Amino acid sequence: MTDDIIIAPSILASDFARLGDEVAAIDRAGADWIHLDVMDGHFVPNLTFGPPIIKALRGVTNKLFDAHLMVSNPDALLDAYADAGSEIITVHAEACPHLDRTLSRIRELGCKAGVSLNPHTPASVLQHVLDRLDLILVMTVNPGFGGQSFIAPMIDKIASIRDMIADRNIIIEVDGGVTAETAPLVAAAGARALVAGSAVFRGDGEAAYRANIDAIRSAASS
Ligand code: DX5
Ligand code: ZN
Repeated sequence: MTDDIIIAPSILASDFARLGDEVAAIDRAGADWIHLDVMDGHFVPNLTFGPPIIKALRGVTNKLFDAHLMVSNPDALLDAYADAGSEIITVHAEACPHLDRTLSRIRELGCKAGVSLNPHTPASVLQHVLDRLDLILVMTVNPGFGGQSFIAPMIDKIASIRDMIADRNIIIEVDGGVTAETAPLVAAAGARALVAGSAVFRGDGEAAYRANIDAIRSAASS
Protein backbone atom coordinates (compact mmCIF):
# COMPACT_ATOMS: atom_id res chain seq x y z
CA MET A 1 0.00 0.00 0.00
CA THR A 2 1.42 3.39 -0.94
CA ASP A 3 0.90 6.57 1.01
CA ASP A 4 -0.87 8.40 -1.79
CA ILE A 5 -3.71 10.70 -0.84
CA ILE A 6 -7.14 9.09 -1.22
CA ILE A 7 -10.04 11.31 -2.29
CA ALA A 8 -13.46 10.05 -1.17
CA PRO A 9 -16.30 12.22 -2.50
CA SER A 10 -19.37 12.16 -0.26
CA ILE A 11 -22.51 11.57 -2.27
CA LEU A 12 -24.43 13.49 0.38
CA ALA A 13 -23.73 16.57 -1.71
CA SER A 14 -24.79 14.99 -5.00
CA ASP A 15 -28.10 15.38 -6.80
CA PHE A 16 -30.13 12.56 -5.23
CA ALA A 17 -32.61 12.65 -8.12
CA ARG A 18 -29.75 11.47 -10.37
CA LEU A 19 -27.78 9.43 -7.83
CA GLY A 20 -26.54 6.67 -10.13
CA ASP A 21 -25.36 9.17 -12.74
CA GLU A 22 -23.64 11.25 -10.06
CA VAL A 23 -21.72 8.23 -8.75
CA ALA A 24 -20.72 7.28 -12.31
CA ALA A 25 -19.57 10.87 -12.87
CA ILE A 26 -17.28 10.96 -9.81
CA ASP A 27 -15.94 7.52 -10.72
CA ARG A 28 -14.89 8.82 -14.16
CA ALA A 29 -13.71 12.09 -12.60
CA GLY A 30 -11.05 10.30 -10.54
CA ALA A 31 -12.60 9.53 -7.15
CA ASP A 32 -10.64 6.86 -5.30
CA TRP A 33 -13.40 5.82 -2.90
CA ILE A 34 -17.12 6.56 -2.76
CA HIS A 35 -18.09 7.90 0.70
CA LEU A 36 -21.59 6.86 1.74
CA ASP A 37 -23.12 8.93 4.55
CA VAL A 38 -25.76 6.82 6.26
CA MET A 39 -27.88 8.86 8.70
CA ASP A 40 -30.74 7.56 10.83
CA GLY A 41 -32.46 10.72 12.08
CA HIS A 42 -31.57 9.65 15.61
CA PHE A 43 -27.81 9.63 16.11
CA VAL A 44 -27.75 12.67 13.85
CA PRO A 45 -30.66 15.01 13.07
CA ASN A 46 -30.84 14.02 9.42
CA LEU A 47 -31.89 11.00 7.41
CA THR A 48 -30.34 9.71 4.20
CA PHE A 49 -30.23 6.15 2.87
CA GLY A 50 -29.36 2.59 3.82
CA PRO A 51 -28.42 -0.81 2.41
CA PRO A 52 -30.89 -0.98 -0.55
CA ILE A 53 -29.56 2.25 -2.07
CA ILE A 54 -25.95 1.16 -1.48
CA LYS A 55 -26.69 -2.16 -3.16
CA ALA A 56 -28.24 -0.40 -6.15
CA LEU A 57 -25.18 1.83 -6.52
CA ARG A 58 -22.89 -1.20 -6.43
CA GLY A 59 -23.88 -1.83 -10.03
CA VAL A 60 -22.67 1.62 -11.13
CA THR A 61 -19.01 1.61 -10.06
CA ASN A 62 -16.19 -0.67 -8.98
CA LYS A 63 -14.65 1.97 -6.72
CA LEU A 64 -14.32 1.12 -3.03
CA PHE A 65 -17.46 1.79 -0.97
CA ASP A 66 -16.65 3.63 2.25
CA ALA A 67 -19.78 3.45 4.43
CA HIS A 68 -19.95 5.98 7.27
CA LEU A 69 -22.70 4.88 9.63
CA MET A 70 -24.06 7.84 11.58
CA VAL A 71 -26.62 5.65 13.32
CA SER A 72 -27.47 4.80 16.91
CA ASN A 73 -27.43 1.04 16.61
CA PRO A 74 -25.03 0.03 13.84
CA ASP A 75 -24.82 -3.58 15.05
CA ALA A 76 -28.39 -4.26 13.90
CA LEU A 77 -27.53 -3.84 10.21
CA LEU A 78 -23.83 -4.62 9.85
CA ASP A 79 -24.52 -7.74 7.81
CA ALA A 80 -26.80 -5.78 5.49
CA TYR A 81 -24.18 -3.09 4.87
CA ALA A 82 -21.59 -5.77 4.08
CA ASP A 83 -24.01 -7.64 1.80
CA ALA A 84 -24.82 -4.39 0.00
CA GLY A 85 -21.17 -4.12 -1.06
CA SER A 86 -19.53 -1.86 1.52
CA GLU A 87 -15.79 -2.51 1.72
CA ILE A 88 -15.13 -0.23 4.68
CA ILE A 89 -17.72 0.01 7.44
CA THR A 90 -17.14 2.88 9.86
CA VAL A 91 -19.15 3.18 13.06
CA HIS A 92 -19.19 6.02 15.57
CA ALA A 93 -17.45 5.35 18.88
CA GLU A 94 -20.22 7.37 20.58
CA ALA A 95 -22.86 4.91 19.30
CA CYS A 96 -21.09 1.68 20.26
CA PRO A 97 -21.16 0.54 23.89
CA HIS A 98 -19.35 -2.65 22.83
CA LEU A 99 -16.96 -1.18 20.31
CA ASP A 100 -14.46 -4.02 20.50
CA ARG A 101 -17.19 -6.52 19.60
CA THR A 102 -18.59 -4.34 16.82
CA LEU A 103 -15.19 -3.95 15.17
CA SER A 104 -14.52 -7.68 15.36
CA ARG A 105 -17.86 -8.34 13.68
CA ILE A 106 -17.09 -5.95 10.83
CA ARG A 107 -13.86 -7.82 10.13
CA GLU A 108 -15.64 -11.18 10.40
CA LEU A 109 -17.92 -9.95 7.63
CA GLY A 110 -14.84 -9.47 5.45
CA CYS A 111 -14.85 -5.67 5.61
CA LYS A 112 -12.30 -3.14 6.81
CA ALA A 113 -13.26 -1.77 10.22
CA GLY A 114 -13.38 1.97 10.84
CA VAL A 115 -14.26 4.13 13.84
CA SER A 116 -15.35 7.72 13.61
CA LEU A 117 -14.95 10.29 16.37
CA ASN A 118 -17.14 13.34 16.81
CA PRO A 119 -15.22 16.56 17.38
CA HIS A 120 -15.57 16.41 21.16
CA THR A 121 -14.60 12.75 21.52
CA PRO A 122 -11.02 12.23 22.65
CA ALA A 123 -8.73 10.06 20.57
CA SER A 124 -7.90 8.04 23.68
CA VAL A 125 -11.20 6.08 23.41
CA LEU A 126 -9.45 4.11 20.66
CA GLN A 127 -6.33 3.28 22.60
CA HIS A 128 -7.41 -0.28 23.48
CA VAL A 129 -8.97 -1.21 20.13
CA LEU A 130 -6.16 -0.13 17.83
CA ASP A 131 -5.41 -3.70 16.80
CA ARG A 132 -9.03 -4.18 15.67
CA LEU A 133 -9.01 -1.12 13.43
CA ASP A 134 -8.21 -0.41 9.79
CA LEU A 135 -9.33 3.23 9.67
CA ILE A 136 -9.98 6.16 12.00
CA LEU A 137 -12.38 8.79 10.67
CA VAL A 138 -11.85 12.15 12.33
CA MET A 139 -14.93 14.37 12.08
CA THR A 140 -13.89 17.93 11.38
CA VAL A 141 -17.53 19.10 11.60
CA ASN A 142 -20.40 17.89 13.79
CA PRO A 143 -21.95 15.09 11.72
CA GLY A 144 -25.35 15.40 10.11
CA PHE A 145 -25.03 17.92 7.33
CA GLY A 146 -22.79 18.84 4.43
CA GLY A 147 -21.44 22.30 3.77
CA GLN A 148 -20.36 23.15 7.34
CA SER A 149 -17.18 24.97 8.35
CA PHE A 150 -14.03 23.05 9.19
CA ILE A 151 -13.23 22.93 12.92
CA ALA A 152 -9.55 23.90 13.02
CA PRO A 153 -8.62 22.45 16.46
CA MET A 154 -9.15 19.00 14.92
CA ILE A 155 -5.75 19.37 13.23
CA ASP A 156 -4.01 18.74 16.57
CA LYS A 157 -6.30 15.76 17.15
CA ILE A 158 -5.29 14.26 13.80
CA ALA A 159 -1.62 14.66 14.73
CA SER A 160 -2.14 13.00 18.11
CA ILE A 161 -3.94 10.08 16.44
CA ARG A 162 -1.04 9.73 14.01
CA ASP A 163 1.32 9.48 17.00
CA MET A 164 -0.98 7.02 18.79
CA ILE A 165 -1.23 4.59 15.87
CA ALA A 166 2.57 4.67 15.40
CA ASP A 167 3.55 2.07 12.79
CA ARG A 168 0.20 0.25 12.66
CA ASN A 169 -1.42 -0.06 9.25
CA ILE A 170 -4.35 2.27 10.04
CA ILE A 171 -5.57 4.96 7.64
CA ILE A 172 -6.56 8.33 9.07
CA GLU A 173 -9.56 9.75 7.21
CA VAL A 174 -10.98 13.25 7.65
CA ASP A 175 -14.58 14.30 7.03
CA GLY A 176 -16.18 17.73 7.04
CA GLY A 177 -15.26 21.05 5.53
CA VAL A 178 -12.47 19.57 3.43
CA THR A 179 -11.53 21.91 0.58
CA ALA A 180 -8.38 22.75 -1.37
CA GLU A 181 -7.65 25.23 1.45
CA THR A 182 -8.02 22.81 4.39
CA ALA A 183 -6.69 19.67 2.65
CA PRO A 184 -2.99 20.58 3.05
CA LEU A 185 -3.49 21.17 6.79
CA VAL A 186 -5.06 17.77 7.45
CA ALA A 187 -2.62 15.95 5.17
CA ALA A 188 0.35 17.54 6.96
CA ALA A 189 -1.10 16.39 10.29
CA GLY A 190 -1.30 12.78 9.07
CA ALA A 191 -4.60 12.31 7.23
CA ARG A 192 -4.43 10.17 4.13
CA ALA A 193 -8.08 9.77 3.08
CA LEU A 194 -10.01 12.98 2.53
CA VAL A 195 -13.81 13.02 2.35
CA ALA A 196 -15.27 15.97 0.49
CA GLY A 197 -18.89 16.62 -0.36
CA SER A 198 -19.67 20.18 -1.31
CA ALA A 199 -16.12 20.86 -2.52
CA VAL A 200 -16.43 18.04 -5.08
CA PHE A 201 -20.09 18.28 -6.18
CA ARG A 202 -19.73 21.89 -7.21
CA GLY A 203 -20.30 22.93 -10.80
CA ASP A 204 -21.92 20.98 -13.55
CA GLY A 205 -20.98 17.33 -13.89
CA GLU A 206 -17.92 15.26 -14.63
CA ALA A 207 -15.51 17.94 -15.88
CA ALA A 208 -16.18 20.20 -12.91
CA TYR A 209 -15.97 17.27 -10.48
CA ARG A 210 -12.62 16.24 -12.00
CA ALA A 211 -11.21 19.74 -11.55
CA ASN A 212 -12.49 19.84 -7.97
CA ILE A 213 -11.01 16.43 -7.10
CA ASP A 214 -7.69 17.33 -8.75
CA ALA A 215 -7.53 20.62 -6.84
CA ILE A 216 -8.03 18.90 -3.47
CA ARG A 217 -5.59 16.14 -4.33
CA SER A 218 -2.84 18.45 -5.52
CA ALA A 219 -3.30 20.78 -2.54
CA ALA A 220 -3.04 17.82 -0.16
CA SER A 221 -0.04 16.35 -1.92
CA SER A 222 2.01 19.58 -2.09
C1 DX5 B 1 -21.25 15.00 7.57
C2 DX5 B 1 -20.86 13.90 6.59
C3 DX5 B 1 -19.90 14.35 5.57
C4 DX5 B 1 -20.39 15.45 4.69
C5 DX5 B 1 -19.22 16.28 4.32
O1 DX5 B 1 -22.10 14.49 8.53
O2 DX5 B 1 -20.31 12.81 7.28
O3 DX5 B 1 -19.39 13.26 4.82
O4 DX5 B 1 -20.99 14.98 3.52
O5 DX5 B 1 -19.69 17.37 3.60
P1 DX5 B 1 -18.79 18.63 3.28
O6 DX5 B 1 -17.57 18.13 2.54
O7 DX5 B 1 -19.67 19.49 2.47
O8 DX5 B 1 -18.39 19.23 4.61
ZN1 ZN C 1 -19.17 11.15 6.19
